[in-house]
Amino acid sequence: MAIMAKTQILASSMVFAFLVVSVVDGVMNEEEAHDHINALPGQPKVSFQQFSGYVTVNKVAGRALFYWLTEAPQEPLSKPLVVWLNGGPGCSSVAYGASEEIGPFRINKTSSGLYLNKFPWNTVANLLFLETPAGVGFSYSNRSSDLLDTGDRRTAEDSLEFLVQWMGRFPRYKHREVYLTGESYAGHYVPQLAREIMKHNRISKHPINLKGIMVGNAVTDNYYDNLGTVTYWWSHAMISDRTYRHLMNTCDFRRQKNSDECESMYSYAMDKEFGNIDQYNIYAPPCNNSDGSTASSRTRHAMRLPHRPHTMFRQMYGYDPCTEKYAEVYYNRLDVQKALHANTTRIPYKWTACNEVLNRNWNDTEFSILPIYREMIAGGLRVWVFSGDVDSVVPVTATRYSLAELKLATKVPWYPWYVKKQVGGWTEVYEGLTFATVRGAGHEVPLFKPRAAFQLFKSFLKGEPLPKS
Ligand SMILES: *[C@@H]1O[C@H](CO)[C@@H](O)[C@H](O)[C@H]1NC(C)=O
Ligand SMILES: *[C@@H]1O[C@H](CO)[C@@H](O)[C@H](O)[C@H]1NC(C)=O
Ligand SMILES: *[C@@H]1O[C@H](CO)[C@@H](O)[C@H](O)[C@H]1NC(C)=O
Ligand SMILES: *[C@@H]1O[C@H](CO)[C@@H](O)[C@H](O)[C@H]1NC(C)=O
Ligand SMILES: *[C@@H]1O[C@H](CO)[C@@H](O)[C@H](O)[C@H]1NC(C)=O
Repeated sequence: MAIMAKTQILASSMVFAFLVVSVVDGVMNEEEAHDHINALPGQPKVSFQQFSGYVTVNKVAGRALFYWLTEAPQEPLSKPLVVWLNGGPGCSSVAYGASEEIGPFRINKTSSGLYLNKFPWNTVANLLFLETPAGVGFSYSNRSSDLLDTGDRRTAEDSLEFLVQWMGRFPRYKHREVYLTGESYAGHYVPQLAREIMKHNRISKHPINLKGIMVGNAVTDNYYDNLGTVTYWWSHAMISDRTYRHLMNTCDFRRQKNSDECESMYSYAMDKEFGNIDQYNIYAPPCNNSDGSTASSRTRHAMRLPHRPHTMFRQMYGYDPCTEKYAEVYYNRLDVQKALHANTTRIPYKWTACNEVLNRNWNDTEFSILPIYREMIAGGLRVWVFSGDVDSVVPVTATRYSLAELKLATKVPWYPWYVKKQVGGWTEVYEGLTFATVRGAGHEVPLFKPRAAFQLFKSFLKGEPLPKS
């Protein structure tokens, strides 16, 4: 308590007084106290604790990963720890997960303040946003070549090292139930980290109490993802019969680098047939880049390794898709970085929602994650896979083809699930895995359908099938 008082004495806002009252366990070690967030600039009053800072995962290279923990307002000690990861590869879970999907705060239009998310996931779990690998967001490496040869392998190893060290810093989480969650390219990170944890638990005296994983619009298997994506384009009338046939006949969906003929068919589909749509939500209104050009021709690269591109578009469905821009202003503010204990080593470039250098130079990517699914299921982990069904980047058809390959027995046959008396989507419970769609949601499900996504999360944590009415 003494150390806490020392760090908090610096805080002078009203929020300070409020937070002191809400310290639940009273005891913080020095490191925890160091990471404790008094209040973020422009933050409304809240009744939960927040921590953020760095964990060194590789001393030789000087790699440190940045995290932000937002605890539950009520009985945080009895609630699980949920790690959330975004994809890219190269994209930040502070930018996406924390600031526009599941975190407690949203950034306002002038980037001068925060307001409360109506469906924050931290009401039922303690949320740990991790920026991984080094090079993403505030996470950094002192060895600049790390940005040029990082891939799946290093991401998984460093993320495990992070968790092990982090548990040491936060002893009250040591035996806590842990769930790993994320979307998009985190379809690689989450299962791969789960596999690293399972390996770690076999040999370590300090096992991590991993209970399950949940991923959404997840990159899963190159072959089925490619096949399912082209199929989605055709079945949603985004491409012609002719282009569909050509793609099916000329592309080898098992290969990462395809023939020129195949590549040119992809270009034709995107440049000549898609039109100016948001591929991450095909029913969103067209969007303009800031220079006034349309955003129709996105690169194949982004298609293979999906991340949300930096485009401006209009407000729709009650959400404002420009939040990445607000995030890039907000998290580059000096006072915000101070409050977050971020960028303490003067990183030589700006904070961005996605690191394109990392993305372009991604070193290694596993062809298929399905073998890890088999391992997780055999290991008794709870495995949930969801899919926003209007995303054309990692579409629902891709996920269904991938999961079908697992040939799992059905436990509860396909049914519509409900949220507030509306069909939230459809679900089927298999032996060892639950699959659920979210109707009308784009690539970032909690952004587009926050209420439905929250229901999904609550059902996942309880380990219960989604509501039948
Ligand atoms: C990176 O280098 C800075 C400046 O020398 C140093 O302060 C910091 O501790 C290093 N980071 C890691 C993770 O070793
Ligand atoms: C953003 O938040 C700041 C600080 O709370 C406030 O002064 C400002 O009016 C807000 N702006 C908008 C557009 O909501
Ligand atoms: C895109 O730009 C065009 C031309 O400047 C304009 O007419 C249109 O309204 C813009 N669309 C959006 C969604 O801002
Ligand atoms: C870190 O701080 C330096 C110096 O203030 C700034 O130039 C740089 O943009 C910051 N980088 C990040 C990633 O926050
Ligand atoms: C880069 O990928 C290759 C395999 O494709 C792997 O052997 C190597 O270890 C990777 N490098 C790093 C730094 O992870």
